[in-house]
Amino acid sequence: MSTPGDGAAEQAAPASSSTETDASAGDIITVTIGATVPTGFEQTAAEEIEEKIGVEARISKDRGRLYFPITTDKLYQIHLLKSVDNLFVVVEENDHYQFKESKEETLEELQQLASKLPWSNALQVWKLNGTLKKRKGYRKGGKAAKVKPNSDETAADNEQQEVPEAVSAADGQTETEASPDLETCAQDSEEGAPKAKILKFRVTCNRAGDKHSFASNEAARDFGGAIQEFFQWKADMTKFDIEVLLNINKEEIVIGIALTEESLHRRNISHFGPTTLRSTLCYGMLRLCKPQASDVILDPMCGTGAIPLEGALEFTSSFYIAGDNNDMAVNRTVNNICHIQRRRADKGSVSGLPIDTVQWDLCNLPMRTSSVDIIITDMPFGKRMGSRKKNWDLYPSCLREMARVCRPGTGKAVLLTQDKKCFSKAVSRMGGLWRKLHTVWVNVGGLHAGVYLLKRTENVFGQTPEDIYEPRETVNTQAEKTDDKELS
Ligand SMILES: C[S@@+](CC[C@H](N)C(=O)[O-])C[C@H]1O[C@@H](n2cnc3c(N)ncnc32)[C@H](O)[C@@H]1O
Repeated sequence: MSTPGDGAAEQAAPASSSTETDASAGDIITVTIGATVPTGFEQTAAEEIEEKIGVEARISKDRGRLYFPITTDKLYQIHLLKSVDNLFVVVEENDHYQFKESKEETLEELQQLASKLPWSNALQVWKLNGTLKKRKGYRKGGKAAKVKPNSDETAADNEQQEVPEAVSAADGQTETEASPDLETCAQDSEEGAPKAKILKFRVTCNRAGDKHSFASNEAARDFGGAIQEFFQWKADMTKFDIEVLLNINKEEIVIGIALTEESLHRRNISHFGPTTLRSTLCYGMLRLCKPQASDVILDPMCGTGAIPLEGALEFTSSFYIAGDNNDMAVNRTVNNICHIQRRRADKGSVSGLPIDTVQWDLCNLPMRTSSVDIIITDMPFGKRMGSRKKNWDLYPSCLREMARVCRPGTGKAVLLTQDKKCFSKAVSRMGGLWRKLHTVWVNVGGLHAGVYLLKRTENVFGQTPEDIYEPRETVNTQAEKTDDKELS
C-alpha cells in the first residue's frame, strides 16, 4: 500500500474500499456531513437543515446526531446552521460493523481499516473548509473564548450544558490552538519549493454501548497509530491541524474528519453565569414556538440572556424582553447584549437588536394582561439555582402570572425544567389556563430535562378557579431573592 506522504489533503491514498469516485481538487463533489445537536432537538435540526440547505437529514440512532448530503459548492452553508454543535465530514460509515470477539483482534482490524478507508473526498472537504474559515477571518480562540470574563463572571458555562460522553485519545485534553494556514500544509511538489510542514493530527473516539471488548482510548490509540503510519502525519493531542473522529455506537461505526474546532454553541455569550444555556439549545427552544413578525417574546428568568439574545439575532422580526430578579444576572444580560452590539458595529451593522432588559420578579410582572405572545424561559431546576422546595411555590406562581400576561387563545410558552414532577403538578393545577401540547426531552449538563410547549387556553384570566391562587407576599419574594443568590 502506498502512503500519501506529508500533509496534503489531495495526496490522500486512493481509496481501495471507496464507493465514491474520488474527485480532483476544484471538482464539485457530494459528501455526507455529520452534525451533533443538543439531544432531543434532532427533529428541529433536521427542519433547519431542510429549510436552509434544502436537503433531507437522516436522524441517527445515536441520539444527538444527524447526517445530510451536501455539494462542496454549498459547504459554507453548514456553518450558518444554528441548531448544530459540531460538524464533520464522513469518511466512511458502517451500520453493522462486525466487531471481533477479542480486544486484540478488534484493535488489529481497526489498524488495518486506516489504510483501506476512502479518505480523499473527506480530506478535500476538510481543506476547502479551512479556506472558507480563512476567508471569513475565522481564527480559533478569536471568538467568545477571547473575552476575559470579570472575576465574578468566570463561572463555568457548564451546569446547564451537556456533559460530553466522548472519550478522546488525547486523554481528556480539549485545548486546541489555531490551525496553521491550511494552504501552507499542502506540500508543493515543484522542485526547490519550500518543504511543507507535516500535518499534526489526533483521533477522538466517541463510543456508546457496553458490549465492546475495547476501551475508547485503546481504539483511538491504535487507529491513530495506523493513520500516523499511513499518512506520515504527526500525532499531537493539543496542537493538531486535523481531528479524525472514530464514532462507535453499539455496532455502528462512523469515521469522520472534524470541520469545527469548537462547538458552534459558543457564539453569543461573553459574560457567563452559573447556568448559562447553550445557544444551540436556545435556538431549538425558539424554533419550537415559531416566532412570528411583531411577536412580543418574554424571557422572564433570563439569567445571562442566552435565550432572548439568540432570538434577537435569529428571529429578528420579533421583540424580546429579558428580565430577571437577580441584579447580577441582569448585568450579565446587559453586558452580553452590549458585547454583541459592539461586535456587530465593528462589522458595519448599524441596526440595534430588538431586545430590552429589565429587573423584575416574575411573579409580579409590570406588564399588561394579555400583552405577550410567547414566553420562553429556562426555570430554576432547584439544584444549582433555587431549591426544589421553593419550586413548589415558585412554579405555580410563575405559571399563573405567565398566564395573565400571555394572550388567551394564541399565546404560547416554552419552558425548560428538570424538576418535572413539580412542573407537571403545577401545570395540571392550571389546566384552565394552560394546555400541554408537546414535550421535548433533552439532556442539559447531564440532567434529563423537559422542554414543555404549552398553549394558552381561550379562558380569560381572572375568570377561572386557578386565578384564586394567593399571590405571594412581597416579603416572601424578597427572602427568596436573597436565598437564590447565585452560587459560584
Ligand atoms: C436557570 S436560570 C436561567 C439561565 C439562563 N437561561 C441563562 O442561559 O443564563 C434561572 C433564572 O431565574 C431567575 N429567577 C429565579 N426566580 C425568579 C423570579 N421570581 N423572578 C425573576 N427571575 C427569577 C434566577 O435569578 C436565574 O437567573
